[in-house]
Amino acid sequence: MVKASYKFPRGFLWGTATSSYQVEGQNENNDWFHWEQKGQIHNNEICGEACDWWGGRWKQDLDLAAEAGQNAHRFSIEWSRVQPEPGEWNQDALDQYRAMAKGMVDRGLTPLVTLHHFTNPAWITELGGWENPEIIPYFEHYVKKINQLLKDYVTLWCTINEPNVYAVMAYLQGVFPPGKKDLKSTFQVITNLFRAHVSAYHLIHQQQYEARVGLVIHYRDMIPARRWFPPDRLVTKISSRLFNDIFPQAAQSGTLRLPFRPITIQGGKGTQDFLGINYYTQEMIAASLKSADQPLAKRSFEPGSLLSETGFIAHKPQGLLNALEWGTQFKLPLMVTENGIEDSLDALRPRYLVEHIHQVWKAINHNWPIKGYFHWTLVDNFEWERGWSQRFGLWNLERGTQERQPRPSADLYARICQENALSRDIAAKYAPRSLEKLFPDN
Ligand code: FCB
Repeated sequence: MVKASYKFPRGFLWGTATSSYQVEGQNENNDWFHWEQKGQIHNNEICGEACDWWGGRWKQDLDLAAEAGQNAHRFSIEWSRVQPEPGEWNQDALDQYRAMAKGMVDRGLTPLVTLHHFTNPAWITELGGWENPEIIPYFEHYVKKINQLLKDYVTLWCTINEPNVYAVMAYLQGVFPPGKKDLKSTFQVITNLFRAHVSAYHLIHQQQYEARVGLVIHYRDMIPARRWFPPDRLVTKISSRLFNDIFPQAAQSGTLRLPFRPITIQGGKGTQDFLGINYYTQEMIAASLKSADQPLAKRSFEPGSLLSETGFIAHKPQGLLNALEWGTQFKLPLMVTENGIEDSLDALRPRYLVEHIHQVWKAINHNWPIKGYFHWTLVDNFEWERGWSQRFGLWNLERGTQERQPRPSADLYARICQENALSRDIAAKYAPRSLEKLFPDN
């Protein structure tokens, strides 16, 4: 039998992605902590100890990652820890983050740092959060401080994680704090997030000549529910432009194309050295006048799709190729900065993993500049308003004991990382149901 294998380029980054609030535990000085106290999380859950990274378990988890052949890790800094009050820096927290970044480098993991991943210090919320442009200078201070702190170890920087999701969830759908449902606030927040990104981009480059700075956006692959129906096609196009395109296009052109009100931000043009794409799923969009999801559009998964455990994700690997193709318009290095599925039993994850990684290989084979893949996530973590109901980890977390257990996908992903390839053997062993699709001639 032919030993077929999809090989990846030398130096390709294989990692997992995490975020501070979701793994650290004991974060009590930010907007999410207060949000939980108000009972806003599924089943009234709280983040609590999370994966106890702040108690030191980051070391053990990074050992797992490195032993499993990964060579990169994406993590984030909790702003409220390093700057508990406007004029105050917490040296212990700064030391801990420096140790973490060094810990990654020591283990052969290239760090990619996210400066803002959904959470804000409580004092930022009191100042009006992202609706208030006055918080931008505070963000600038914080960015300068962290860049100075970590630049010996870190060259890859993501300014803001999924600003498109953050603005929509926190200010339009009201499921993230501060829980607003206001279109005007949403546009205000989008503008301020972009301004903050632009400042961060320039500040990092002033301090660190070799830095590579980018945005990480959530790409939702959208297809019209009824292709023959022009209103569906139109609403799909508008939704995708607003949600997927707005930030990277602004970073390319300097102009935020808000509906009816484009805004040009000084210094905004050319403020990305790479683009991070988080891809999870594809959805169908139908024009609708009475949709609760979003103005004028009803979203759904294609009937008959394979769905994840909690119905959160439809298994649509082709959407990742679409996302990467879309990404090529920016003429920048691209990275898959998140991709994964909630699946406590690891029933669908092996297929999801191999079929998505196969799409990444196809993209590379088209000569598109894909530089890395970060799976979401290493160990089960706190999933925002969905709490602990979703298990995205390659490792299962026993919350009571903090014990980690590898799921079959942990071994599967390790083989891919170690071999820098997706071989027929790997697919046959871990995802036999994908075999025919991936290796049809064998
Ligand atoms: C993304 C978030 C990440 C995680 C995954 C499942 O939108 O960036 O923190 O919650 O979804």
